[in-house]
Amino acid sequence: MPQQHNSTPGLVDPYGRRVEYLRLSVTDKCNLRCFYCLPEGFRDFEVPDNWLRFDEIERVVAAFAGLGVNRIRLTGGEPLVRRDLPQLASRLAALPGVEDLSLSTNATLLQRHAGELREAGISRINVSLDSLRPERFKQITGGSLAPVLEGLQAAKSAGFAPIKINMLALRGINDDEFEDMVAFCLEHDFTLRFIETMPVGSTGRDAGDHFLDLQTVRQRLERRFELLPGVMPGGGPARYVQVSGTGLRIGFITPISQHFCATCNRVRLAVDGTLYLCLGQEHNYPLRPLLRQGISDSGLQDAIIEALALKPERHEFRDKPGQVVRFMSQTGG
Ligand SMILES: C[S@@+](CC[C@H](N)C(=O)[O-])C[C@H]1O[C@@H](n2cnc3c(N)ncnc32)[C@H](O)[C@@H]1O
Ligand code: SF4
Repeated sequence: MPQQHNSTPGLVDPYGRRVEYLRLSVTDKCNLRCFYCLPEGFRDFEVPDNWLRFDEIERVVAAFAGLGVNRIRLTGGEPLVRRDLPQLASRLAALPGVEDLSLSTNATLLQRHAGELREAGISRINVSLDSLRPERFKQITGGSLAPVLEGLQAAKSAGFAPIKINMLALRGINDDEFEDMVAFCLEHDFTLRFIETMPVGSTGRDAGDHFLDLQTVRQRLERRFELLPGVMPGGGPARYVQVSGTGLRIGFITPISQHFCATCNRVRLAVDGTLYLCLGQEHNYPLRPLLRQGISDSGLQDAIIEALALKPERHEFRDKPGQVVRFMSQTGG
């Protein structure tokens, strides 16, 4: 597997930000239809011939790892609908330089796969969960809540810790459930993260009608719980607090009300091998043609370094909310 072949100190973008985190979308398909992510009836998925094969993904991840990218997250679409995902996970976990392999999932298929994913070397799991009420969960996602709760239980039994719950804060939809979700996470020893909706794709733009500034969510929770600020800094975009007298950590991810672009440390690879440099912009660099033309390992690293030069300074969700036409399921959030 390639080691870094020049003296570049890791991957640094034109704004001096070091990139050390790759989000890898292993499929753009999903077995749910969260209204803010994937449109009902959407069929225009990437054709299988264009999916990066496991050996191609492995080469790309090895190239990134050789450039100092040591954190990899498997995402999608729903990553567990990609067949043999645990096999891919164990191949990636074994690559030199990959120190942290994690998974974002809707948990619907976790009951079946949690044990083998843990054995494969996945260290951490994030689960999307916007409601604890079956009817409402169905309204938001089109699916059933029960398998998600069973999947979470299976992840706990398999030894994943911490398990992070990602809850989109949706005004008029689930904004009467924040305290319930805090109680649920306390009960199960999960970490809770609230997320602001982003105008990605037509679905994300429509969800803007339900946008909720997380400052107001935090203020509301402060009326009920004593929140101690400043825990678990660094790593990612969440700002964490701890609920006093408990082990519960609550994170607030505020891409819109307080963007965190100045500390962005990540890029995203879509299932078709397109590298996206920013979640909120279209700047991209297709790697699949290079892989299929037989590019060398060092050539692949040079291409990644070239792509990094395209990383924009920041998203423009506020100024140009209509500009990202792809759906969140293509780049994995
Ligand atoms: C696209 S999903 C992929 C992984 C997996 N299917 C899941 O739901 O966790 C990753 C994350 O993106 C978030 N997401 C999707 N559409 C979004 C939007 N328009 N604004 C903000 N977050 C969004 C989801 O809530 C989820 O936490
Ligand atoms: S947020 Fe995740 S679970 Fe929901 S539709 Fe998008 S990819 Fe599927």
